[in-house]
Amino acid sequence: MSDPLRHLLSLHDFEAAARKRLPKPIYAYISGAVEDGESERGNRHAFAAYGFRPKVLVDVSGRSTRITVLGRDYAAPVGVAPMGISALSAYRGDIVLARAAHEAGVPCIMSGSSLIRLEAVMEAAPGTWFQAYLPGDDAQIGALIDRVAAAGVSTLVLTVDTPVAANRENNVRAGFSTPLRPSPALAWQGLTHPRWLFGTFLRTLARHGMPHFENNYATRGAPILSASVLRDFSDRGHLNWQHVAAIRRRWKGQMVIKGILHPDDARTARAQGMDAVIVSNHGGRQLDGSISPLQALPAIMDAAGGMEVMLDSGVRRGSDVLKAMALGARCVFVGRPFNYAAAVAGQRGVAHAVALIVEEVRRNMGLLGVVELSELDADCLLRVSDV
Ligand code: GLV
Repeated sequence: MSDPLRHLLSLHDFEAAARKRLPKPIYAYISGAVEDGESERGNRHAFAAYGFRPKVLVDVSGRSTRITVLGRDYAAPVGVAPMGISALSAYRGDIVLARAAHEAGVPCIMSGSSLIRLEAVMEAAPGTWFQAYLPGDDAQIGALIDRVAAAGVSTLVLTVDTPVAANRENNVRAGFSTPLRPSPALAWQGLTHPRWLFGTFLRTLARHGMPHFENNYATRGAPILSASVLRDFSDRGHLNWQHVAAIRRRWKGQMVIKGILHPDDARTARAQGMDAVIVSNHGGRQLDGSISPLQALPAIMDAAGGMEVMLDSGVRRGSDVLKAMALGARCVFVGRPFNYAAAVAGQRGVAHAVALIVEEVRRNMGLLGVVELSELDADCLLRVSDV
């Protein structure tokens, strides 16, 4: 039998494959953005606003995609972005993502909105970064931070672009909620997607029991399937930089703020002792109409004062990676396509997706005339449009 991965030639290809595999509400949750999808589209367009200026007849035979991020050596500058409930779309999703990244030697950020205990993921893939949302109050924050440290995490990523719930109309239309409510429509979605039903959901239930939110707090949260209206997301509207400062004092490891677009916030993050920021509009899933991270990047680089700056949202090609790095990003993270890859073919799927984009980076370095990623700078690019 021919290998289905053979037909997946770029990160774009994983979406259609995952769409067939997943129940509609789950696919809608992953693929969706907010409101009119302005930011999600803008994330892709932003890359087209820059063109490369390749240099020729450079000996590129010894080129390398290796990169140092936060003092650690990685095989390539493309990591796995944190994605919630990925164990619902792929069997043991968080472990699959983290292991594939670990074996490929690229960074992986595990989401705090996840259904597998952080400790199990850290055991399967040491070195995985952990992404937390701030729980609502100081005692909860402290307990979570202490648990994360005890699990052996060295890099804590705090996502800060979710002060209030975003307007995910697509979830409502597709019947997605957390927890998922049992209904005839949901049962039908399961029955009509048997590979997901048997390979992911029932297999999880049989081997690990009903998945719960495991890592939003120090203690276990709500189940993923429940008839009650139990919500697992506390109000974060009151959280501010003082909470971040308190975490910085308590957390001894590296700390990264994810979800900034304004240079003032980069300045504040640096002043508060952050090791890095991730410029991100959450894949276009929070404030619709917010600028794309690539557009935000130049001003943030000016404000960062040497602090490492990373980027996510809309990265799909090796050429995108190189453009972001030419504008100053240390590395980038990719979300949805790796989630689709896990849904389609588990760890092997994610490994294949990582290999595809890393190979694109390597090939495009050659075509651009670059041997080391540290050579990339704004001189490699020309701004070709204002979009
Ligand atoms: C969670 O972070 C989401 O974007 O759904």
